[in-house]
Amino acid sequence: MSVTLNSIAKQGKNGAAMMPIIQGVGRAAIEIAAVLRGAIFRGVLGKAGAENVQGEQQQLLDVLSDEIFLEEMRSTGFVCAVGSEEQEELLVIDEYTRSDYLVLVDPLDGSSNLDVDGPVGTIFSVVKRKTANSERPHVSDTLQSGQDVIAAGYVLYGPALMLVCSVGAGVSGYTFNPSNARFELSHPDIQIPETGGYYSVNESNADKWLDNMDANLERLKQETGLGMRYVGAMVADMHRTLLKGGIFLYPADDKNTTGKLRLLYEAIPMGFIMEQAGGKAMSRNDAVLNIEPETLHQRVPVYLGSKNAVDILFDN
Ligand code: AHG
Ligand code: MN
Ligand code: MN
Repeated sequence: MSVTLNSIAKQGKNGAAMMPIIQGVGRAAIEIAAVLRGAIFRGVLGKAGAENVQGEQQQLLDVLSDEIFLEEMRSTGFVCAVGSEEQEELLVIDEYTRSDYLVLVDPLDGSSNLDVDGPVGTIFSVVKRKTANSERPHVSDTLQSGQDVIAAGYVLYGPALMLVCSVGAGVSGYTFNPSNARFELSHPDIQIPETGGYYSVNESNADKWLDNMDANLERLKQETGLGMRYVGAMVADMHRTLLKGGIFLYPADDKNTTGKLRLLYEAIPMGFIMEQAGGKAMSRNDAVLNIEPETLHQRVPVYLGSKNAVDILFDN
């Protein structure tokens, strides 16, 4: 008998409470995967014609994925609000304002890959509300550091559909089995290799990087001889880094002076997974998980990978 997503319930002290939400993520993943596969036939490839709150062009699939994810979180009954990269304000789920949990989501990560049939993903994390259940959930409930994250993970829409997640007791990877329509545990207890792997970064920005990262990366390359891979979708680049080792980075540059990746939707969930897998997650000189968020859509520099590679980059 294969092990399915239900096995999350037995992990750590939060597994049972998180299972319905992670199952909801699994349902959203299956629906989003189906929409992605048929997108060209439904005419939903391309721009939505609007900009999101970050001033980025929304793709129709960003909007559809956001709707699907929100609907699945609503249907769990355990989520009182969702903060999404695609929504300016916190979305309160009116039927369940008394529920305990808030979910933060990047519904479709790497959307510039859509036009070229490249891999994309979904990234999520779960926190417990700070306001009383009798109150309406508030954006301040989402502004919690990575130390308060209860569960996080990502979906990778690649040749296989994968859900990688953690409830704070290690990292488990599940692969969707089309023959029984279930996510089955395919990668138990993922640990990032300590050596080897790749460095993964948009190196075309090197001459604009802040924090001396150009020189630091050259030193890392010389000391480790790491090869290079870059997909341009954080989920795909993170997944390879997790399984093969090395480092994924998106430094600040003179255009994005505080970095490009979003603290709540990308850096914290991926930092949580990376640390749970025995790796290291830095942002400038702070650990990603120690940053106290100030705003919903805040951006930060990100350095995730094998301890050794991150330490060499920071010259520790
Ligand atoms: P999103 O599609 O959710 O806006 O995220 C895109 C992010 C991330 O997936 C990736 O690591 C990075 O942007 C790639 O940026 P560049 O194109 O600047 O390399
Ligand atoms: Mn993203
Ligand atoms: Mn996105």
